[in-house]
Amino acid sequence: MNVLLLGSGGREHAIAWSIAKSPLLTELFIAPGNPGTAQFGKNISLDVLDNEAIVTFCSECDIDLMIVGPEAPLVNGVHGAILNDSRTKDITVIGPQKLGAMLEGSKDFSKQFMLRHDVPTAAYQTFDAKTLAEGLSFLETLSSPYVLKCDGLAAGKGVLIEPTLEKAKASLKHILEDGSFGEAGAKVVIEEFLDGVELSVFILTDGADYLLLPTAKDYKRIGEGDTGLNTGGMGALSPAPVADEAFMQKVKEKVIARSLTGLQQEGIPYKGFLFIGLMRVGDEPYVIEYNVRMGDPETEAVLPRIESDLLGHFIALGKGSLSQEKMVITENTSCTVMMVSGGYPESYSKGHPIKGLEQVGPESMVFHAGTREENGQIVSHGGRVLTVTSVAKDLSSALENSYKNIGKIRFSDCYYRKDIGYELN
Ligand code: AMP
Ligand code: GLY
Repeated sequence: MNVLLLGSGGREHAIAWSIAKSPLLTELFIAPGNPGTAQFGKNISLDVLDNEAIVTFCSECDIDLMIVGPEAPLVNGVHGAILNDSRTKDITVIGPQKLGAMLEGSKDFSKQFMLRHDVPTAAYQTFDAKTLAEGLSFLETLSSPYVLKCDGLAAGKGVLIEPTLEKAKASLKHILEDGSFGEAGAKVVIEEFLDGVELSVFILTDGADYLLLPTAKDYKRIGEGDTGLNTGGMGALSPAPVADEAFMQKVKEKVIARSLTGLQQEGIPYKGFLFIGLMRVGDEPYVIEYNVRMGDPETEAVLPRIESDLLGHFIALGKGSLSQEKMVITENTSCTVMMVSGGYPESYSKGHPIKGLEQVGPESMVFHAGTREENGQIVSHGGRVLTVTSVAKDLSSALENSYKNIGKIRFSDCYYRKDIGYELN
């Protein structure tokens, strides 16, 4: 089985690590990959948004299966491009076609979908520049805090939670009148604030059957005690502490089953991961958002807990035999702690040599998020640089191992949160 994996972050490093363990793998290519993925396959320089180049590569290198890491190539229709070419149409693609990718690509689309299929979510209304006045009036009917979401993809920055009515009105005007988020902010979803505990649920699905992956909790804020700006994610734990059995039963019935039935009823094909961002309010699940891919850094905490063959599950999905698969998950707990460049998520410098990677012990794994090799030296090359994962019998041992090994890794201006899991101790 020849596999192509699209992407270049910590999520893709973890996926490469996981499928490289499979006896079913012949050759793994990663486009464009990073120095971490290069340990498990061949990095190739391909633009993940160039569908024609990807189709040509798949055909020339006899690719059997393609995994799409990030959302942008899915929203850009890479799956359809593979299906529409006679040379590549039989390739199994992990990641939905353009229509399914709209669940992440448009907040308004996904909210309407949830409403149609009775998937629990916050009450909302959508506004554009023409209906700005109505949007401002709608804000007056809500109470603080106010949740404003840009409809389109905004690199994780399109959600604003405003503490006062004045700020919420100013932000709405800023997005719709001044175009501060460009095309992504052409429409804005305003929704009810949900007061609860967040968690992430992931499934691998062929649109009918599914495998439930380990749950996770993501730490999104830059500062300790969950303060400061939102980031792509500063660390994650798996399982999510609030994902007990009774709650997960509700998630399966009210969220997963209804979402999959909805996709089928609307004739939306869906093969790949569905990442459901949830808020647990009391004992009830509410969907905050769908993502059509795995989370980052959740993947780096989730995949190390999967003991069955992930590539085998992907192949079964392609063959239509997912219902016969069983995902085996360790009872152990995992954590991952992200090391970032000082200044992230705002401006930061890169190109700093990273030392001490070889001193990391076998109790932890380092996944590369934003690194590059320059003259044989690994250097920082992004906001999020490395993430250190540990799996252990309990959370405190896992965290202890990750922090111990982070202490061995050095690069200028490095920052990480020292309090991942803080609220659970
Ligand atoms: P999203 O980009 O949709 O994941 O939203 C970013 C973050 O905003 C989420 O992780 C939540 O912490 C928060 N958020 C989004 N929607 C709501 C809501 N309706 N109520 C409370 N918090 C929310
Ligand atoms: N860590 C959140 C995400 O991947 O969307």
